[in-house]
Amino acid sequence: MPTSAGRFYICAMTKVGILGGGQLGRMLLQAAANYPVETYLMENDAGCPAAHLCHHFISGDIKNFDDVYQFGKGLDAITIEIESVNEAALEKLESEGVRIYPKPAALKTIKNKILQKQFYKDNEVPTADFLITQNINELTNNSSFLPAVHKLATGGFDGRGVQVIETKDDISKGFDAPAVLEKMVKIKKEIAVIIAVSDTGDTAMYPAVDMIFDNRLNLLEYQVSPAVLPEKILWKVEAIAGKVVRDLQSAGIFAIELFVDHNDNVYVNETAPRVHNSGHHTIEANFSSQFDMLWRVMLGYPLGSTEHILPAAIVNLLGAEGYSGEAVYEGLNEILQIENVFVHIYGKKETRPGRKMGHITILSKEKQELVHQANRIKNTVRVIT
Ligand SMILES: Nc1ncnc2c1ncn2[C@@H]1O[C@H](COP(=O)(O)OP(=O)(O)OP(=O)(O)O)[C@@H](O)[C@H]1O
Ligand SMILES: [Mg+2]
Repeated sequence: MPTSAGRFYICAMTKVGILGGGQLGRMLLQAAANYPVETYLMENDAGCPAAHLCHHFISGDIKNFDDVYQFGKGLDAITIEIESVNEAALEKLESEGVRIYPKPAALKTIKNKILQKQFYKDNEVPTADFLITQNINELTNNSSFLPAVHKLATGGFDGRGVQVIETKDDISKGFDAPAVLEKMVKIKKEIAVIIAVSDTGDTAMYPAVDMIFDNRLNLLEYQVSPAVLPEKILWKVEAIAGKVVRDLQSAGIFAIELFVDHNDNVYVNETAPRVHNSGHHTIEANFSSQFDMLWRVMLGYPLGSTEHILPAAIVNLLGAEGYSGEAVYEGLNEILQIENVFVHIYGKKETRPGRKMGHITILSKEKQELVHQANRIKNTVRVIT
């Protein structure tokens, strides 16, 4: 910008890039508006949920080395909203001085479920026993390991890439590609914990949340924060989650999903090295949201407070069964009349069965009110065409 003296101001804004333009990128960019940051976004679809919120949209393939490398050159920092990015390009950018959240080495470990499980084992982090399978025939050879859960090493998300193999009869449902075969855990509760790690090693842990799943789609149905857990289990959960991020040795934000079994053993299910669906309530329910927190990490500010202002529940809005096409949101009028309810529509033009189209957050001191309103929302709002 020219000054009256004809000189130019030097723009001191930090340049940060985001790989991926889905709802996580969208909510991250909503939080960016509060900070002195110039945002860059790469995604191949200019109509993606996050595109209109960034300063600079770059069309490109986040899995392609050249696209990611060209995107990142000249940026101060980069983060991801999905694991399936070209980590070789991120490694090169890191070696050239771009700060990457999470570190490419941590991303590499996490994005391949075989390496991720091996990492837990090597670091003595409790996790369900597992075998590595290269093809479907190896399931037949290991049928004594059943009942188990088969998980594709790479490329699975939102329940796709996970198959329950109860008995030999289910083996045909397994994956004919490198995968992990994990002992079935008798799950009492699924819990998630989000932890932020700064460049200087400071950490901030959000209260654990209870995740309640839709067993058919394997997709999160609703969650309540903070989780209701006996103190002893909560300690285990926090100790294990803390160890996972220490061992990953990376700044950034991490979501650790855990199982509590019927004997109160706690196992890590998986870790995501990024903002996560289990932290969406933090936008309204906690002093610093997971998105705000990641900006603090990337811009070198002090970490925010993870304390909750009020307990919360979230309901995911999933595309209704039997509807594919331009999305219509039924029931929002009724839900928007409730004073402690916050609607987030992700701006995806097309709905498909099970597609994450938005989420709704409910705040209340009363646990019963949270569950009541969560059910009301689930029975009232439908994403159809
Ligand atoms: N070893 C196990 N024993 C019992 N249930 C399991 C096991 N592993 C996974 N599940 C069930 O399957 C769900 C999905 O598994 P996982 O989290 O590994 O897959 P995902 O595709 O990465 O899911 P998402 O991306 O939605 O988090 C879990 O939340 C849990 O309900
Ligand atoms: Mg999961």
